[in-house]
Amino acid sequence: MERVVSVDEVRAALARLRRDGRTVGFVPTMGALHDGHLSLVRASRRHADVTVVSIFVNPTQFGPGEDFEAYPRDLDSDTALLADEGVDILLTPTVDAMYPPGADTHVDPGRIGTVLCGAARPGHFTGVATVVTKLFQIVTPDIAFFGEKDYQQLKILEKVARDLDMRVRVAGCPIVREPDGLAMSSRNRYLSPDQRSHATVLYRALATAHDAACAGETDAGVLTRGVRETIDREEGVELEYAVVVDAETLDPVSVVQRPARALVAARVGSARLIDNVAIPLPGTGPSR
Ligand code: PAF
Repeated sequence: MERVVSVDEVRAALARLRRDGRTVGFVPTMGALHDGHLSLVRASRRHADVTVVSIFVNPTQFGPGEDFEAYPRDLDSDTALLADEGVDILLTPTVDAMYPPGADTHVDPGRIGTVLCGAARPGHFTGVATVVTKLFQIVTPDIAFFGEKDYQQLKILEKVARDLDMRVRVAGCPIVREPDGLAMSSRNRYLSPDQRSHATVLYRALATAHDAACAGETDAGVLTRGVRETIDREEGVELEYAVVVDAETLDPVSVVQRPARALVAARVGSARLIDNVAIPLPGTGPSR
């Protein structure tokens, strides 16, 4: 694995590796890697000839008072994990290289970036869309992999790629969960053992909606109420939102007639956690 820091270095390394029409897969991350990230790397290795991973804790997607400073950073252990996975290039740019003085062009994903997590974290998705667009420009991947755990982010990045006529294919990969259902997240490191066990309620609550939909319930109000009540009963978990939305537009739905998704966000201690599940259409099988 070649570790590169500058834009010029990554372009030179890619020029060497991209010979004979080899395809490039890309996994953008903020580091503090877990099995969810590694599943994206493995997907890239399966679908592309060359795999590039970036680690960059992007300051523009953190709001004032959020956890930019505290965000876990563990470059040595991340590098070892990625080398073991057979990654070809690891890009670790500096903040100054990504945002030199005067670089104030932004990519605003529009309305979809202002709802749900975008309402709680104003400017967050503009920061994400801007840095990912810049990384796409630098790496010029054929396909880029993002986890469905950050479902709103995934739908926004698909839209940005579509709206801006990018050549990259944005691919979503299934959520990777701990054995007790907790979705893997770098922010789980903020949880005490007690908080961690309370946090499993997010998946248990989403599972009630999924299971009710499998049993034929199509009323989104009923599905959402079940999720909300399950989370409200759990000590130490403060629900921010629980919704059932159209799986593509993220618009609220009242009756599930098209592919839908149940999404939740909640605070557990200092951690803001998110999770989601697919809501099966009536008459289709279970698929969490
Ligand atoms: O999901 C993340 O880790 C980040 O939001 C991303 C996509 C790497 C952009 O900084």
